[in-house]
Amino acid sequence: TTSMNLLFGLPLCLLPFLPHQPLLLNTLLYFIIPPPSPLITLTYYKKPVFTHQGYMQWLWDVDGKRYLDLFAGVATVSVGHCHPKVTAAAEKQLKRLWHTTSIYVYPTLHEYCEKLASYLPDPLKVIYLTNSGSEANDLAMLMARLHTGNYDIITFRGSYHGGSPQTLGLTSNTAYKYPIANGLGCTNTMCPDVFRGPWGGSHCRDSPVQTTRECSCAQGHCMANEQYIGQLKETFATSVPNRIAAFFGEPIQGVGGAVQYPKNYLKEAYRLVRERGGVCIADEVQTGFGRTGTHFWGFQGHGVIPDMVTMAKGIGNGFPMGAVVTTPEIAASFGQGVHFNTFAGNPVACAVASSVLDTISEDGSQQTSLKVGNYLLTQLAKLRDKYEIIGDVRGKGLMIGVEMVKDKVSLECLFCHHCFPCNIPSLLFLPPLQTFRIKPPMCITMEDADFFLAVFNKSVHNYMERRGG
Ligand SMILES: Cc1ncc(COP(=O)(O)O)c(C=O)c1O
Ligand SMILES: *[C@@H]1O[C@H](CO)[C@@H](O)[C@H](O)[C@H]1NC(C)=O
Repeated sequence: TTSMNLLFGLPLCLLPFLPHQPLLLNTLLYFIIPPPSPLITLTYYKKPVFTHQGYMQWLWDVDGKRYLDLFAGVATVSVGHCHPKVTAAAEKQLKRLWHTTSIYVYPTLHEYCEKLASYLPDPLKVIYLTNSGSEANDLAMLMARLHTGNYDIITFRGSYHGGSPQTLGLTSNTAYKYPIANGLGCTNTMCPDVFRGPWGGSHCRDSPVQTTRECSCAQGHCMANEQYIGQLKETFATSVPNRIAAFFGEPIQGVGGAVQYPKNYLKEAYRLVRERGGVCIADEVQTGFGRTGTHFWGFQGHGVIPDMVTMAKGIGNGFPMGAVVTTPEIAASFGQGVHFNTFAGNPVACAVASSVLDTISEDGSQQTSLKVGNYLLTQLAKLRDKYEIIGDVRGKGLMIGVEMVKDKVSLECLFCHHCFPCNIPSLLFLPPLQTFRIKPPMCITMEDADFFLAVFNKSVHNYMERRGG
């Protein structure tokens, strides 16, 4: 393999300026052949990469061109594409038993559940397996409503929690919505985004990189946090009944562009939610399994213990799998009916997920996330200080967002204007579109990071020269 390319979220507009082509983007660039064409082509790329094979942090297209995968199929390939150890575990199980169903007892399922539970703090010890993140969140919604006897659920604006009819209510992003009745009992509250939101300063977030905003808060006291909590109180006072079922929050907002909240926000929000009878649910679909580097779960970085944790993506390194973990008390309320899901706890999925847990610890994936992530974040912050169009660098571990702006004063979206002539429906220009999301498999090396940084620097540099500034 002679050439090497990057696979990550980069708006198409930069393509002409890049030394290596093609780059892939994670952002929503839809190219839709308008009706009445009988053929509707829907891809995220003008020239989709025709992937063919993967190994660890690498992907190859049908022409044999190699790509450095910085997106991991949306933070999903946790330990590496076709990781030999996980592949061997899958092969072994494929030869033994593909399917029974969870109404029978079989060791793979029970061993896996015990292993997964050992990664969670008390009282989070009851596990329900699913096949995806949307299914996990659907189940969590149902359980929260049954347990509390309340109906209303609060999520952050800009969040993505799934695409099923129920979870579309949790998801707060126009691009994923359809003009049909949905989201009954779901309310979205202001996302405490310390970069783009109305408040934020120079030490609000739990990251090696802060915003360029200034503040005069004393250490340990964050005025932005108080303001954002005030907005949540406003939501309680105006938009929901005084008893609610749940609050769903990602520890770091994934699809929203690796958005981070002020340090004590979740702690305070959990307290307010519980006062109103609600349960607190951490959506760890993207942040779980060591990706944030400092902890195995994102919620641990916020110093909270949720009542429920939902997970998917990285749990199976790309194999379809999800889970809800909750307390015995909530599980008891749910036990009043019979819950059944044919494929949940599938033996092959359990064998894969079990091997993923072992591999994360054997390969030191969480440590890699911390080391390479911190390096990427601090180096990217230097580029932010150098270039007018890099507005913000944020995140933890290998959950990184780089938000591009027209300039640092207006913070206007860079690509909205620039891309407009590229035939992209402007309707789809939502804030996530301007943030590169960097979430590679956790086997990435420092050399890979340097390669990415060099290409990214060069691209931005060339872009600035073309723009004349
Ligand atoms: C935070 C979060 N929750 C839930 C989901 C839904 O998961 P799935 O696509 O497996 O249904 C996603 C998917 O992107 C996600 O990012
Ligand atoms: C970024 O690229 C420019 C142009 O090639 C180069 O002059 C500069 O040294 C690079 N900076 C870094 C930090 O790599």
